[in-house]
Amino acid sequence: MASQAPRRVFIKTFGCQMNVYDSGKMLALLALDGFEATDNWREAEWVIVNTCSVREKPQLKVASFLGPILARKRDKGRPLVAVAGCVAQHDGAEMFRRNKELDLVFGPDGIPRVRELVATAVHRRVLDNHFLEVADYPFVQELVPSAGQEINALVTIQKGCDNHCTYCIVPSTRGAQVSRPASQILEEVRGLAARGMRDFTLIGQNVNAYGTDSNQHPSFAELLCQVCEIPEVWRLRFTTSHPRDMGSDVIAAWAALPKLASHLHLPVQAGSDRLLRRMGRQYTRAHYLEVVRGLRAARPDIMLTTDFIVGFPGETREDFEQSLSLIEEVRFDAAFSFKYSPRPGTAAIRLKDPELPPEEASARLSELQQLLSRLQRESNEACVGRVFDVLVERPSRHDPEHFMGRSSCFRAVNFPGEPSLIGTIVPIRITRAHPHSLQGELA
Ligand code: 5AD
Ligand code: SF4
Repeated sequence: MASQAPRRVFIKTFGCQMNVYDSGKMLALLALDGFEATDNWREAEWVIVNTCSVREKPQLKVASFLGPILARKRDKGRPLVAVAGCVAQHDGAEMFRRNKELDLVFGPDGIPRVRELVATAVHRRVLDNHFLEVADYPFVQELVPSAGQEINALVTIQKGCDNHCTYCIVPSTRGAQVSRPASQILEEVRGLAARGMRDFTLIGQNVNAYGTDSNQHPSFAELLCQVCEIPEVWRLRFTTSHPRDMGSDVIAAWAALPKLASHLHLPVQAGSDRLLRRMGRQYTRAHYLEVVRGLRAARPDIMLTTDFIVGFPGETREDFEQSLSLIEEVRFDAAFSFKYSPRPGTAAIRLKDPELPPEEASARLSELQQLLSRLQRESNEACVGRVFDVLVERPSRHDPEHFMGRSSCFRAVNFPGEPSLIGTIVPIRITRAHPHSLQGELA
């Protein structure tokens, strides 16, 4: 008997690593109903768009991506279309009403139920943006079916965020913090390790607050130890961390756990205490600098990256210069920086101060980015002559004789080699620095 043709699903992912992970989980769940991923939405039975609302720009990208898909749906009656993720959570009801072509709209808490949502939405339109009960939030245990060749794996350890940073829409799209039971985390890591994964990133909105929502969990530092004890885990990273929750036990982990990667992304957002207070960040510049000193004492070569927001309401030239001086003082190795984007429902849009004129905000952003680029260039140039242990991931996109891998500090390193090196760690001497990568040769 001929086997049944697979049903095709096209999943488009916008936004952060949580969305990348969630999309993988949706695929793993839908595979149980015979779905296979396709990268051509025109041949898909279902198109699922996993959306991001953290700033206005990614939200606009969602709208323009959906345009032609909804147009085809109007013309041909296909494909079935779902909008998932943070935009769906926040604006789902309005989207659902406005776009009759949408078959299904569901927020991040609907991910574990994607199979039943999709099955129901084949027959009637479904809007589902309820937050789940926190007590028994069902983290999805299924592993992504196609995760064969990869070396890097994401593993969620908590969802949601209990902070109230005044600019941030995340607490209203992802809900309250729920930590995943450590036994489930370890089981997922072991399952992925059995499929060849070696470089693990623990993810969540606020990973270093792991465990604080219930006394049934180990501390975050203990969890790091437990994951590092799994032999196939060669490298461990985590993101995103909050500077307030960088306890001394977490900092000490960089001295105690050699597998912990020499990289931390620690968003600071601003350098002025006045702005940090108005952003609701719950730490001072001095605290942030103290954490940086501790990290560098525990792991001298740690690579530090961060996020900045420029043009927060009421940001004076003086506040802005404090961001510049913090950058000089820390000498970040790399950073993301964003112009403040007012988000609906957040506390910052009620602040009395006027927003900066857009041209002033743009000028400040480019001044800050120039400084960050200079430091990033200097940081990469300082790597020339050093030897890094590089975990080889794949052939280079530009030259089939070259390969790409990552150092423990997460720098991309390209070098001439051979396919058998993929999945191994090799010593590479750095010969040249580029703005976003390094060039090297086998040492
Ligand atoms: N405007 C600009 N940037 C923002 N971010 C979060 N919310 C906003 C906003 N409303 C940035 C922060 C955060 C990163 C993921 O996005 O820098 O760390
Ligand atoms: Fe948003 Fe602040 Fe929570 Fe990060 S810590 S998700 S910026 S509220």
